[in-house]
Amino acid sequence: MKNQEELLSYRAKFLEPSPMLSLNDKAKQLKEQGVDIVNLTAGEPDGRTPWSIGKAAKAALDLGLTHYTPPGGVKELRKAIAGKLRRVNHIPAAWEEVVVGVGAKQVLSAVFQLLCEPGDEVLIPTPAWGTFIEQARLADATPVLMPLKQPFVLDAETVHRNLTNRTKILIVNTPSNPTGSVIPSEELKAIAGILRGRPIHILADEVYEQFIYDELSHTSIASLSKETRQQTITVNSFSKTYAMTGWRVGYAHTTPLLAQKLSALNSLTTSGTCSIAQYGALEAITRTPKELERMTKQYEKRRNLVLEQLGKISLLSAVPPKGAFYVFINIKKALNGKETSAQWCARLLEKKGVAVVPGEAFAFPGFMRISFAANRGQLRKGLQRIREFLREE
Ligand SMILES: Cc1ncc(COP(=O)(O)O)c(C=O)c1O
Repeated sequence: MKNQEELLSYRAKFLEPSPMLSLNDKAKQLKEQGVDIVNLTAGEPDGRTPWSIGKAAKAALDLGLTHYTPPGGVKELRKAIAGKLRRVNHIPAAWEEVVVGVGAKQVLSAVFQLLCEPGDEVLIPTPAWGTFIEQARLADATPVLMPLKQPFVLDAETVHRNLTNRTKILIVNTPSNPTGSVIPSEELKAIAGILRGRPIHILADEVYEQFIYDELSHTSIASLSKETRQQTITVNSFSKTYAMTGWRVGYAHTTPLLAQKLSALNSLTTSGTCSIAQYGALEAITRTPKELERMTKQYEKRRNLVLEQLGKISLLSAVPPKGAFYVFINIKKALNGKETSAQWCARLLEKKGVAVVPGEAFAFPGFMRISFAANRGQLRKGLQRIREFLREE
């Protein structure tokens, strides 16, 4: 056979594994080798999936609910999700407008496939979860990065400045990975106002909606008006909210037309989401587990602990996150122009066994992200080691 590299599609040529997952794997590998690692890379709740959800999934298994489901998801689950969208997110959703997928990631990827054509531009505020950028490219679109200034809250003016007649999608991720910023509803209204009447979709990733602090609340952009709702694909997931990352259940709410197309695409790619996982998700969304509120309060305490410890390190600074479970830390003073944040983070792992994600993974060098979905002991230990690392420089 010819050199296989040459035979790869142009898509495969630029394809690299998600940097976050590879870093997490590297930290796990080192741990397995017996190295004392503090892993602060994880983008997932550290607690167990609530027991009631597992019980419902086991019951589905015992009942033999183990065959293909409709590609858009089990009807009861779609109905329950529509109910939650109406109740919690104030989006007047009908079940036919909801499509279940293999985690939010697969749903997002399907949306890009259905909307983008070569030359289309996808507006992505940065720092951004790198997957948005790569998925847009995989769909032949051009990601247009919009670097935000601290405190990293997307604003209408930035959106307006970056619009062109090729703009196809705007990414709105609130609360944000990696900054934990939350877009206030007034700003969302202004953003929606600018896009109204234009042939542009809003891809609203709300997977961290459950994790909001300082008594703030989450606003779904699709709840603002009928017109904005028709332009918006609201994407959410069971992964973070219910500590169900491995179950791989996510969903989208959109227009009936796009929902039908998403189902059609699922029928050709995934044949639907794991049936057992869907019944677990049904339990999660119909009877909110009592653990949920406790989890959010626990994260808020952990966030406060991280900010308190960071306050003692003069070379590092961060905007306090209002949501999600990440702190995005400015490390430029520590880098001192001598190395990249990726190199600095690699040295931190090598010398002190602390795994964090460099800003490069979010198209924002000069920063690092730490996750506070780790227990307090690990957080203290990790930050203590970072302090020592800087002292020993
Ligand atoms: C902003 C954002 N959206 C989506 C996901 C993926 O969610 P899921 O596990 O449902 O695919 C992540 C995971 O890190 C994320 O940070």
